[in-house]
Amino acid sequence: MKHVLNTTMLTALVVVMAAVPAVAQDRPAFKEEVLKQEKIYQTPGENIPSGYVIDRSLLAYTATLLSGFDRDLAALRPGDRWLDVGAGRGQAVLDYYTPRYDAMNREGQEQRGRKAQAVAMSIEDRRTPLWQQTAERLEANQIQYWHGRRMREYAPAELGKFRLITDVFGGFSYTRDLSLFMEKVLGALELNGSFYTALIDVLPEQGGHPSSHRNSPFLTAIANADGSATKVCAWLKEITCVAVGCAVQSKLETVMEVYRVQKVCDNVAVPALSLVHYEAGTPPARRFQSGNPTVVVPGPR
Ligand SMILES: C[S@@+](CC[C@H](N)C(=O)[O-])C[C@H]1O[C@@H](n2cnc3c(N)ncnc32)[C@H](O)[C@@H]1O
Repeated sequence: MKHVLNTTMLTALVVVMAAVPAVAQDRPAFKEEVLKQEKIYQTPGENIPSGYVIDRSLLAYTATLLSGFDRDLAALRPGDRWLDVGAGRGQAVLDYYTPRYDAMNREGQEQRGRKAQAVAMSIEDRRTPLWQQTAERLEANQIQYWHGRRMREYAPAELGKFRLITDVFGGFSYTRDLSLFMEKVLGALELNGSFYTALIDVLPEQGGHPSSHRNSPFLTAIANADGSATKVCAWLKEITCVAVGCAVQSKLETVMEVYRVQKVCDNVAVPALSLVHYEAGTPPARRFQSGNPTVVVPGPR
């Protein structure tokens, strides 16, 4: 039987093709990995995979993130806002509101007063009774726990502006759309505000190392259009209107690189990356390619 496509059918086909994202067309395997990843997020507390840490303290944040984070946090004043993207249980936020925090950070205590507002963001709701008790003890909306959505799914008006944004093995390590993630983060940062984050098993700015990950050269890798490797730090430095600091934490067996991205003007443009490899995990293995329009992946990331 001969099939003839008339103009209406052709138009319908083009619309359907355009609606199917490139990744879904080319790599159906991602779908399975995305489902596996979703299961990790939704695993109840008692069955959580050992690599999925959801209760790091503020001290652990300070030890992990680039130096300057503790100073920036201590310098926040009432009226300022702190967003922790990928907060897990929100332990770091809870620790910030304890008398112990003030005892350990006497400098600036007076000016800090009743402290900044904090938002803990997580895909899944990991709140504990301690979160509820602390929220009740504090003024209304002093701490908020946003769950059920990824960073990319919040509109700018919902997010508002933050003086400080942190991400300790949250969205920056887990997202399938790193460019969009950074656009959201920088869109939500006040001018001169800073974003502190980290990645494990990544090609660091200074020197290289043999990767410890079995199936992928690095857990997070970026390739240029010609296939040569580029560095996450170098990619961050290509973003306009930011000052970037990168440092390697080599105490660990697996190399960890930490980043500070400070927004220095408003005209932020993030270079596009497309996702070319994705494997669920804690965190997932991701390979991105630069120089292409950002791949639009359906559903939550
Ligand atoms: C491994 S836990 C880390 C929790 C916490 N930062 C800690 O160190 O204990 C990962 C967290 O990131 C969240 N997450 C992953 N991708 C995210 C995204 N794109 N936007 C917001 N949260 C995300 C998860 O829901 C979870 O709360």
